[in-house]
Amino acid sequence: MSLGILNTYSEFLPLSEKTPRISLGEGGTPLVQSERLAKSLGIPNLFFKLEGCNPTGSFKDRGMVMAVANAIENDSRQLICASTGNTSAAAAAYGAHCGIPTVVLVPKGNVATGKVAQAIAYGAKILSINGNFDKALELAQILAVDLKMTLVNSINPYRIEGQKTASFEICERLGSAPDYLCIPVGNAGNITAYWRGFKEWKDAEFISSTPKMFGFQAEGAAPIVLGHPVKEPQTIASAIKIGNPASWTTALEACAESNGLIDSVSDEEILSAYKSLARMEGIFCEPASAASVAGMIKAKRNNLINPDASIVCVLTGTGLKDPDLASQIADRPLQEVEATTEALSIALQSIN
Ligand code: F0G
Repeated sequence: MSLGILNTYSEFLPLSEKTPRISLGEGGTPLVQSERLAKSLGIPNLFFKLEGCNPTGSFKDRGMVMAVANAIENDSRQLICASTGNTSAAAAAYGAHCGIPTVVLVPKGNVATGKVAQAIAYGAKILSINGNFDKALELAQILAVDLKMTLVNSINPYRIEGQKTASFEICERLGSAPDYLCIPVGNAGNITAYWRGFKEWKDAEFISSTPKMFGFQAEGAAPIVLGHPVKEPQTIASAIKIGNPASWTTALEACAESNGLIDSVSDEEILSAYKSLARMEGIFCEPASAASVAGMIKAKRNNLINPDASIVCVLTGTGLKDPDLASQIADRPLQEVEATTEALSIALQSIN
């Protein structure tokens, strides 16, 4: 049974006696050792952190439980966020769990089907705006102040606090910190959170070293790599289609302090990693998540990763969030067959 991150890591979180210890069972996600991909790449110590196993199917639950608990402690009446989909799903779920109305602003036409379905199911007020994520976040910040709502995007510091717990889990499972941590970068809250987590775990003397932080943006949405905001970000990985990340500075700090890097990967590289994870490992993640593996493969190719090192790739969300994409790129689509053994035998002749 998962106690949730507020109970498990209470000493490392900003909790008071008044903070409600709410939980939907977030945290405690699997760290799976790679089999076939590791062999094919010649890096035996490769692991995947399956954040899609959180209650709403992404890492956002770790930050959201902390942010919503704090909102309740401060008698908040309403939550608001801008989102490419996962934040809104998490906010809507924890809002519903605690009986707090939730408003989400999403960029029209740019949110995966499963994520919209979640926000609808949890009963959030969904406002689809004619603009991208960066615009939605700008508006959400203004509305939060004007209408006295709690903003639960990762500029809310409690979000980062909750999300850092994933680093603790990785170190507990491995018995040390990995040598490299590969992670997708969108608004850059998560890379900030992981780095803080590793540093705190080292300060507490549970580990003696920290990993190099390798963050990856999509090529068409790579403001940090380019060194300037991108006005109209483009990528198939809609979750990280962000042109002006809120946690830009702290992402650069994580990179510099850890001797890491922030690079970009193309949509082709992302899709290739997405397919390899599903077909070679049995892990179905969303395209944005596959950016961590695409980036790791690129870094390995460029000799930036020592093959004997331990590497953790964070798979931030489940592939079920974006079922349309999986069908669109299927090499082997559904085949209709007559309900007879003869027809089935013929169909099975070409099973491979
Ligand atoms: N992976 C997934 C699946 C995401 O949903 C996000 C961000 C990221 C990676 C990047 O994390 O923003 O902390 O750098 N999704 C946000 C949202 C923007 O609205 O759900 P980040």
